[in-house]
Amino acid sequence: MGLPEIKSTREIEIMRVACGLVAGSLDFVEKELKPGVTTGELDSLITGFVESRGGGMAFRNYRGYPANTCISVNEQVVHGIPGPRKLVEGDIVSVDVGVKYKNYYGDGAKTFPVGKISEKAARLVDTCSGALDAAILAAKAGSRMGEVCRAIQEYAESRGFSVVRKYVGHGIGRRLHEDPQIPNFVSDSFDMNLVLKPGMTLAIEPMVNEGTGDTRELPNRWTVVTADGKLSSHFEHTVLVTGECAEILTRN
Ligand code: MF3
Ligand code: CO
Repeated sequence: MGLPEIKSTREIEIMRVACGLVAGSLDFVEKELKPGVTTGELDSLITGFVESRGGGMAFRNYRGYPANTCISVNEQVVHGIPGPRKLVEGDIVSVDVGVKYKNYYGDGAKTFPVGKISEKAARLVDTCSGALDAAILAAKAGSRMGEVCRAIQEYAESRGFSVVRKYVGHGIGRRLHEDPQIPNFVSDSFDMNLVLKPGMTLAIEPMVNEGTGDTRELPNRWTVVTADGKLSSHFEHTVLVTGECAEILTRN
């Protein structure tokens, strides 16, 4: 594995634009999340938002991925393929958007409630969002990767939930997925001693499950669901490492 790149000021300015489109499209689509809307319609709305502002959709054809966004409902963890499924009151829906702008990438995701959701679902979504916040606070220059991973895992597990282990966060920049890998748990299979440096750009993306962290893939070869059929939540920000806590780029 290569060392994570340090981005120049010029590169970071381009990534700010890509990431701004990610954040803008997630804010925009939140208003459209009503019972009856299909995930395919949401995918089209996001695409229109991004492309009309000069961005490109990063996921389309990535390793053969067949849509522009990933939209994962309830027990779907990540890589839900948008289509004719209609959202219903009580669903939780994870929307993941990747934007390419001038050859640089931004990546972000959020889990939204559809109408009124159960208390358990709300606690899960809050926990996943809080785990991402904890990771961002831990991701300052001079910190080690293990501190970021531990922040996510401890936040989620102390609230009675599980982190997914099969899919991890990543560096991002001129490619959607760069080094380093950023697991949502402490593991010697990854470089926990990596020291974060100013100018690194990271996509941190906790996936938190209501039941166990185990997952399986649907026959479409993309969509990841919880093995036990219980709920899952996913939040992701592209961040820039600075001397203080990381700066969120996927925020307007
Ligand atoms: N945001 C996800 C990630 O960072 C999804 C990209 S995979 C795709 O890995 F194939 F669906 F594009
Ligand atoms: Co990502």
